[in-house]
Amino acid sequence: MAVITLCSASGSPGVTTTAVGLAMCWPRPVLLVEADPSGANGVLAGIFRGARDYDGGLLEVASSPLAVSDALRDVVRSIEATEVSFVVGAQTHTQAAGLGGLWAPLVEALADLERGGQDVIVDAGRLGLVGSPEPLLSWADLTLLLTRTTLPALAGARTWAEGLRSPSATSWREPGLLLVGEGPYGKQEVSKALSLPVVATVTDDPAAAAVYHRGAPPPRRFASGPYVRSLRAAAHAITGAVARRHDELTADLTGDVTS
Ligand SMILES: Nc1ncnc2c1ncn2[C@@H]1O[C@H](COP(=O)(O)OP(=O)(O)OP(=O)(O)O)[C@@H](O)[C@H]1O
Ligand SMILES: [Mg+2]
Repeated sequence: MAVITLCSASGSPGVTTTAVGLAMCWPRPVLLVEADPSGANGVLAGIFRGARDYDGGLLEVASSPLAVSDALRDVVRSIEATEVSFVVGAQTHTQAAGLGGLWAPLVEALADLERGGQDVIVDAGRLGLVGSPEPLLSWADLTLLLTRTTLPALAGARTWAEGLRSPSATSWREPGLLLVGEGPYGKQEVSKALSLPVVATVTDDPAAAAVYHRGAPPPRRFASGPYVRSLRAAAHAITGAVARRHDELTADLTGDVTS
């Protein structure tokens, strides 16, 4: 069970769409946390097409007198007929800037959920914005930088990838890349250029992605088509990467104890 944080460096490669899509294709119960500091309202304005009213989210958690894990429980909403639940983030970028004190206790609360068998997917939006949820980027079991593989996209991603490798920079526990579309550059080239592993690739498919981006009607054979198949494969690759890392850490700890 894991906390997985998605983010981007530049452009809009599809962080929100992929976070929603992964949650909808996740093999287990999953909580989607909207922590995008832009206040873009990606879930309510996106997959719900504005038809669902705001009825509490991270702002209420931040201002609640309750412990974060209790306050969080009050604002978790579910998506009907799925095992997906979600928490809405700040509604504006100025509100998001005021959530700075929430992120560290939220990490603890999410870790508790995770220990209780619930996976968590976080939409951390674009890196470097005021109000960026740093602890959710640093402490996730896997932090995925999403990028397309065009030269401008890779140039934007590279400045962050370099920062992640420098010892003085903010580091993430387990950084990786998630590619949105492959081409003109391939997985190996991207991984080499950014010195980060490519954990998964989601197919570039604008019509299918529109379903999760703005609640568009599903195109023909959506559920069995290449886009949803790539999301399922990505979910599988992500859970596999987290499980492998967990096993390595457990083996290291066992080695330390027995040596
Ligand atoms: N796999 C995909 N294939 C094709 N188009 C996609 C894919 N994923 C997302 N998109 C499209 O990319 C655009 C941006 O998507 P989205 O809003 O999810 O990006 P973002 O990275 O969250 O952007 P922002 O930084 O503004 O929050 C949307 O038009 C969406 O439909
Ligand atoms: Mg977004």
